[in-house]
Amino acid sequence: MRDVVWAVDGCRVCGRDDWLDVISFGSVPLANGFLDPADRDREEPTFPLDVVACRGCWLMGLRHVVDPEVLFSHYVYVSSDSDLMRRHMRHIVELCVDRAGLAAGDLVVELGSNVGTQLGMFADAGMRVTGVDPARNLVEVANERGIDSIPDFFGPEVAGAIARENGPARLVLGRQCFAHIPDVHNILKGVDAVLAPDGVLAIEVPYLVDLFDRNEFDTIYHEHASYYSVGTLNHLFAAHGLRVVDVERVAVHGGSIVVFAARDAAPRNPAARDTAARDTAARDTAARDAAPRLPRPVVAELLAMEERCGLTSERAYLEFAERTRRVITAVGDLVRRLVADGRRVAGYGAPSKGTTLLQFCGLSHRELEFCSDTTTLKHGKLLPGTRIPVYSPEQARRNPPDYYVLLAWNYAEEIIRKERPYLEQGGRFIVPLPEPHIVSAESAGEYI
Ligand code: TMP
Ligand code: ZN
Repeated sequence: MRDVVWAVDGCRVCGRDDWLDVISFGSVPLANGFLDPADRDREEPTFPLDVVACRGCWLMGLRHVVDPEVLFSHYVYVSSDSDLMRRHMRHIVELCVDRAGLAAGDLVVELGSNVGTQLGMFADAGMRVTGVDPARNLVEVANERGIDSIPDFFGPEVAGAIARENGPARLVLGRQCFAHIPDVHNILKGVDAVLAPDGVLAIEVPYLVDLFDRNEFDTIYHEHASYYSVGTLNHLFAAHGLRVVDVERVAVHGGSIVVFAARDAAPRNPAARDTAARDTAARDTAARDAAPRLPRPVVAELLAMEERCGLTSERAYLEFAERTRRVITAVGDLVRRLVADGRRVAGYGAPSKGTTLLQFCGLSHRELEFCSDTTTLKHGKLLPGTRIPVYSPEQARRNPPDYYVLLAWNYAEEIIRKERPYLEQGGRFIVPLPEPHIVSAESAGEYI
């Protein structure tokens, strides 16, 4: 039998085998491995979760890889349908149309296309679209919705087949999946096989700078093999004849970057690009010629900022580990104290990062009565490891707790606004990050 977990030898980006030990979270179950109540007493498999940073290219990543087949072939993560996420996806379409000079009829290929929501928006804008995602259950849904999707791991074979059937892609997009993939070189070989000579690759990943700034240690779990900075992506892309030409910081998933890369060739028409920068009207007509080839100044600015923040030395990683240990203790102690005082505590949302946070803090069904979550697939299940039952929002509303730990903190604004009545009836949120604090009706203003 094949191993389902193994330790990486060399760095997945630069190949060097010189690791800084950042922090170890022990051996924990998979964050998306929701349990049926019937399996309450079954022992769950656990996998090591050790965070390291490569001294060669400063990639932060997990020391161990869990077989992607185990993690992603039946994936319960359905990309969120929240207002915030839909707005973001529309923004992505605008950004890509601008940066890649997309026009109607151009081919857009998305890896990690999930149920096809993002590609649907490109199709609405007139582009031809093809998705690739290893989760067969999600690809089925996408195809039912009319979004052409292939159930596979993206790589040179599937990308080559797409290029042969549909022609080269002007845009290859990977949103919030790149960090999940252990063999990123294979992905980039796939990009090479399908990307048009003047096409653009756009990768959206959580930004390591934001992760450090906001102590987002709960986003560290087995699915997230890597935590990227612009510097590390630059290094990686360069090995495949691509260069980072633009970066846009976006708010989703705790702070992410959309990194645009183009084939490392001479600028085709730099004059058109300068005109485009000055004149928005000209930009539309010049869009194609203006497809960026020279890095915009923001790229160098972010690289310099990362260096100042200590990302290219051991400093930022070790400070992050220190803060993480402190916040984990503080959140755990706060909840245990409230429960000891007779308060009822539950979780708001049951995201993977919630499972992770509760586990790190040593909290379980003994402290939290339930987690309320809008995802129907999760209702009635138990959170992995902590065995906390997932309720629907309606079920939760019938008997709300005194305190909700805001596990889905990336939707804080939307949730606190929606839960105004809960706050006004005396309910409170415990926002765990960046430092644990309590939000009541009086203090909700800082979020909305
Ligand atoms: P995500 O951060 O991975 O998208 O997960 C967010 C989780 O939070 C997802 O399981 C849905 C849940 N959620 C709620 O339960 N209520 C809400 O109002 C929102 C926005 C999300
Ligand atoms: Zn490296």
